[in-house]
Parts: sequence; structure tokens; C-alpha cells
Amino acid sequence: MSQLEWWRDAVIYQVYPRSFADADGNGLGDLRGITSRLDHLVELGVDALWLSPFYPSPQHDAGYDVADYRDVDPRFGTLADFDDLVAAAKDRDLRVVVDLVPNHTSWDHEWFQEALAAGPGSAARERYHFRKGLGVDGELPPNSWQSVFGGPAWTRVPDGEWYLHLFDTSQPDLNWDLPEVRKMFEDVLRFWLDRGVDGFRVDVAHGLVKESGLPEWTEAQVPITSPGAEHRIPPMWDQDGVHDVYRQWRQVLDSYDGDRMMVGEAWVAPAERLARYVRPDEMHQAFNFNYLMAPWTAQDQRIAIETSLAGVEPVGAICTWVLSNHDVVRHASRLGFPPGYSTQGGIGIGDPPPDEALGLRRARAATMLMLSLPGSAYLYQGEEVGLPEHTTLPDEVRQDPTWFRSKHEVRGRDGCRVPIPWEPGVAAYGFSPNGQSWLPQPGDWDRFAADRQRGVPGSTLTLYIEAIRLRRKHGLGGGTLTWFDGDDLVDFRNGGVRVITNFGAVPVPLPPGEVLLVSGDLAADGSLPPDTTAWVRA
Ligand code: NOJ
Repeated sequence: MSQLEWWRDAVIYQVYPRSFADADGNGLGDLRGITSRLDHLVELGVDALWLSPFYPSPQHDAGYDVADYRDVDPRFGTLADFDDLVAAAKDRDLRVVVDLVPNHTSWDHEWFQEALAAGPGSAARERYHFRKGLGVDGELPPNSWQSVFGGPAWTRVPDGEWYLHLFDTSQPDLNWDLPEVRKMFEDVLRFWLDRGVDGFRVDVAHGLVKESGLPEWTEAQVPITSPGAEHRIPPMWDQDGVHDVYRQWRQVLDSYDGDRMMVGEAWVAPAERLARYVRPDEMHQAFNFNYLMAPWTAQDQRIAIETSLAGVEPVGAICTWVLSNHDVVRHASRLGFPPGYSTQGGIGIGDPPPDEALGLRRARAATMLMLSLPGSAYLYQGEEVGLPEHTTLPDEVRQDPTWFRSKHEVRGRDGCRVPIPWEPGVAAYGFSPNGQSWLPQPGDWDRFAADRQRGVPGSTLTLYIEAIRLRRKHGLGGGTLTWFDGDDLVDFRNGGVRVITNFGAVPVPLPPGEVLLVSGDLAADGSLPPDTTAWVRA
């Protein structure tokens, strides 16, 4: 890893604090728990951790509803615990990235409480999007925009006005036309930069600025558009004005020493449109969800890789790669369905279950493919032990607002958020000291416990450790790709390493050369079986 601009080829591990490690035994993970498990990240060999929100919050959207941007929720610890975590990470040469949630606050935020109290026409209401309703008595929402979690994007308050929330009712959208809002977030950036963070993951980065006048929008309101589709940009997403915000933030980051970075969560397509977020004076990285969503076929994967790389090239940025996070079905389960099967709404009791063995085989192959690509790769806690989705969570324990706002039609994201297993044969698999767990863990997760896989040849944990080590050794994160053609293969050379993934139904011969790593067993004759990736010294 180059010391300069560490993020260019970094492997960044997402910690979802509530489900990583619970030191105080209340069933919710916490900062001290994370600190106590940092050596796991050292063992894995990652460069940085990204912490999902740990700020004071009523937790209506698992902390993505922030009530105070400059503190730690007592359920997760204290600012002193945060400082200890940063110090412990630095001792281990791990960088720390924190989540920033600028599109909306919690309804518990003092600004929103002031807005409610101050009433229509007040300056306090200007900080959000309050409007009169339509209809005779204003009983209809101001427009027909829908919430990403289901239902209308507007909620009426007792005095008759409505406020906009693109997500849950408890997450009112801020008005980014207001200089005061911009100023507040610059102060928040500085607050965490002063505490030593190395960067920010920017939530809903494509949503902050809305088209002026909040015009009606009746077309499908997905926050990502199909590649190449002729479309008008929806008035709530990807507005040109967001880029001024990131230019301003970039100046703030650049005024600090070290290589502080920003990565945008922007559900935007096509790739050229996403590239606008990573122009030289804006963010450093943007998540590559087009790659995450690419079906498991050689053609789709190659197109996703090539268009992603081509997309960022004109702006001189690097690509990012990601397969799992806290918003999508874990890739060890997602890939256990036929290509084209949508798991977007989550999986629950009564849904067709994934083929677990197939899913894991493909997930291991997918991870090796991802870790061979130039740029920065994101891992989501638990994937390094091959953790699947919890597909049989009882509906009554679900907490994702999507489940409630969709009137129980969309299961939501709880299945990928279940506390992760560390040790076999102990309460909560070592997640908490007393067996507490905010979501129930399946009864058969002993086999995924990190302690059971450590040092075991062929285990998923061993595969991740080896892959990250070899990625660094061979400079794969900084390389360029030369492609080879082959039916049902993704096949390229990255520097001194040939990377081949077999998407077909029959084994294929490997090119000559030392086999550095394989995601599964090779066939008896040394050929590469279906759904398997090999790295061969080229
Ligand atoms: C994206 C986050 O990843 C997700 O978990 C959250 O629900 C929404 N943004 C709203 O903040």
C-alpha cells in the first residue's frame, strides 16, 4: 500500500456497530466491542474500517436517523470510547472512516423540534422542506413523491403543513439551499476530522439537493436509473447542485494533513453520471452499486467491470468494488439464486430459500474476482467467514422501517444485519458476553464462527486472508487489466497475475503457471470447476 493516497487501492471493512461486538451485554454492539476485536481486522489485512452510524439517535432506521451529529449514542458508548477506538486503530495502522448522514436528520434533532414548535413560515421550518398540502383543506400531500421505504414521502404535522422525508417519517429531509445547513455540516466534518478520522462515507450522496420547486414526479422513482436508459433525472436525485456541496467539503478535507477521503453512497447510473461525483475536486470514491447488482454471468460481470473502469477514467478517479453491505442481501445468499432472481426486498420465511452451497461457492469466487480488481474494495462484516443472510427471521422481530412502511410487503434488510458469530459453542457465538442479541441469530452459525475457521486450510476466513495478502503483494489494487476472450469466462491479466472465473457449467483448463490461489478445489485433472476463481502467476 502506498502511504500516499492510501484509499486508492485500500481494502475497507464495514463495521456495522450494532452487530459487530457487544462489550456491555445489552445485545447491541458498541464501540468498546469494536476496539476489543480490532485484531481480527489486522489478521484479515484490511487497510481501514468504515463505521456505520453510532451517533445519538432514536434508532428508527438503525442510526441513519441522527439526532446529534457530534456525539456518541450512549447505547454505543461515549466520545472517549470513540477516541480510544481511533487510537487503537492507529496503533494497528488501520484507518477509520465514519458515516455522515447529511440528507436528513432524525425527527429528534433539535432543528426539527424547533421547526415543529416554531410553526408555518418560520425560519426554523426553512431548514427542512415544509409545504402546504393540496386538496380543499390541504389534506393531500404537496406532491406524489414516494418514500424509498414505501408510502408517501410526506407526513402532515398537527398545524396542517407537510414535511418531506425520502426515507422514514422519522427522517425529515434537510433543505440544502440554506447556507446554515451547509455551514452546520462543515462544522460536523471538522469535528470528526479534528478527532482524527481518515474519511467519511456520505449517506444518500445523490439526494441532498432537490430540483427547485419540488416538481411533480409520477414516473418510477428508483434512486438509480438503468444504464443507457433515456430518462429525465428524477427531481429528488442526482441534481447538479449536489456537486457544489462536495467541492466545498473537499476543500475542508484538503485543509487537513494526511489523506482524508470521502466515499459517496450515490445510487446513480450510468457510470458516467456516477463519475461526476469523483471529479478531481469532489469525492475520492463512490460506491459501485452497478457492480454489486451485476448478475452472475460472465458477460454481465465483464460488462460491469469494463463500464465501471471506463466510467471513472475520464475524471482520473479510481473504481470501487463491493459485493455486500447492510442494505442488500449478503452475497453468499444472493448468489445462491439463479441469475436474474431479485432478492431486493430481502428474504423471509415462506420465500424460496437460496442454495447455500452454491451461494457460498459463488461468493468465494466473486470475492476473489473483486479483490483482483484495480481500485478500492469494500468488505462487509461477516462476509469473511462466508456468512449467509438470515433467511428465516420471524417477521415479528423485524426492525427495518421498510417492513413497516411497505405494510409488511417488503421484508427489508434485517437479514443481513444479524450480529456476527465469533466463537463456536458459546452464547450468541461470542457476540455478547451474556447471549443477548438485538436480532436472533440462527441456531446453526457455529460453523461460521471466526474462531472455528482461523488457520483452517480452505476455510473462507483463510481464503480472505490469503487473497488480501496476495492482492497487496502483487499490487492488484493498483494494476490495469488486459482481457482474454473465452466462453463463460471472465479472464484477464492484472500485472503479473492472471485471473480467471469460470461461470460455465463445465471445468476449463487453467493456463500454465503457478496457481497462487483458488476459491475452491480444482478438479482432479487440475482444471477450474464452475463458479470458481483462480489466480495464476502470469
Ligand atoms: C443508506 C443507508 O445505507 C441505509 O441503511 C439508510 O436506510 C438510508 N441510506 C437512509 O439513510
